[in-house]
Amino acid sequence: GVEPLFTLVDRGWVFDRLPRRRRNTHKGDYGKLLNVAGSQRYMGAAVLSTLAAMRSGAGYVTLASTKEVCRTVLPMLPEAVLLPLAQNPDGSLSYKAMDALLEAAERSTAVLAGNGLGTGPDACRIVYELVRRVSRPLVIDADGINALARNIDILKDKKAEVILTPHLMELSRLTTLPLEQLRPDPLTAGKAFAREYGVTVVLKGAHTLTAAPGERVWINTTGNAGLAKAGSGDVLAGLVGALAAQGRSPEEAAACGVWLHGMAGDYAAGEFSQYAMLARDVIDALPRVFADND
Ligand code: APR
Ligand code: MG
Repeated sequence: GVEPLFTLVDRGWVFDRLPRRRRNTHKGDYGKLLNVAGSQRYMGAAVLSTLAAMRSGAGYVTLASTKEVCRTVLPMLPEAVLLPLAQNPDGSLSYKAMDALLEAAERSTAVLAGNGLGTGPDACRIVYELVRRVSRPLVIDADGINALARNIDILKDKKAEVILTPHLMELSRLTTLPLEQLRPDPLTAGKAFAREYGVTVVLKGAHTLTAAPGERVWINTTGNAGLAKAGSGDVLAGLVGALAAQGRSPEEAAACGVWLHGMAGDYAAGEFSQYAMLARDVIDALPRVFADND
């Protein structure tokens, strides 16, 4: 049939597309996400993105980060696999970790990169090398996007499908367009970017839009201003990464992840208020969101 140009994403659309949990299956059937995240300065981003991925159905979630981050976050992530790697004196991930990252990426079914990684030279080189070498769907958020913005042509060398999840400022860095131009109409620039680089772009904001390379757009219907707090983006990244690891297409992983994140945010606001809710409450609300599907 003819696919619509605009899809309004609602509960039925999402639950029709979520991976089913069949009885006769094991964890290997639900994908392995490699999450390259965190640095001494931004440990929370590694914890939130990893926890959100683990709450979103992935069979395995591996956090690849510095030795120090892994040591520190271990008590918060007992179900995660930790891959402790070399670090720089400033507490960021060292480029010496690259070979281990690429090996781990090939053992995974999707890779998430960028949350709390920092924007030093090693972090940027790691992101570029992942884009060039990883053959699994690659979700890039936060500092991964900031790295790409400094060297956008790397995207033309990508080996696999790429999903980018920029907020408006990150979109401005990626496109080099001013915020004043993007704010009233992020979609025109987002669609052009998706087409030019052949990537799926999640345009985050109060009304998040997802643009695929082939002109199609998904419009989200969930979420509230309680999500306007540091950390909620890391939760979304983990969700989208986990859905990609479970074999959803880039646009389905993106559009479903955005809806589920907003729905969890709406439950969190109902319980804790938009004022007081935190990103961790959004993760804690995910079980309720998925339970609605059972
Ligand atoms: N209504 C609905 N959803 C919202 C709203 C709103 N008013 N405001 C924000 N959100 C959602 C966005 O759609 C997105 O999914 O919350 C999430 C926020 O994600 P980010 O903007 O990436 O924020 P986050 O990463 O958590 O924190 C800020 O971004 O600028 C960088 O490095 C900076 O660490 C900082 C980080
Ligand atoms: Mg962010």
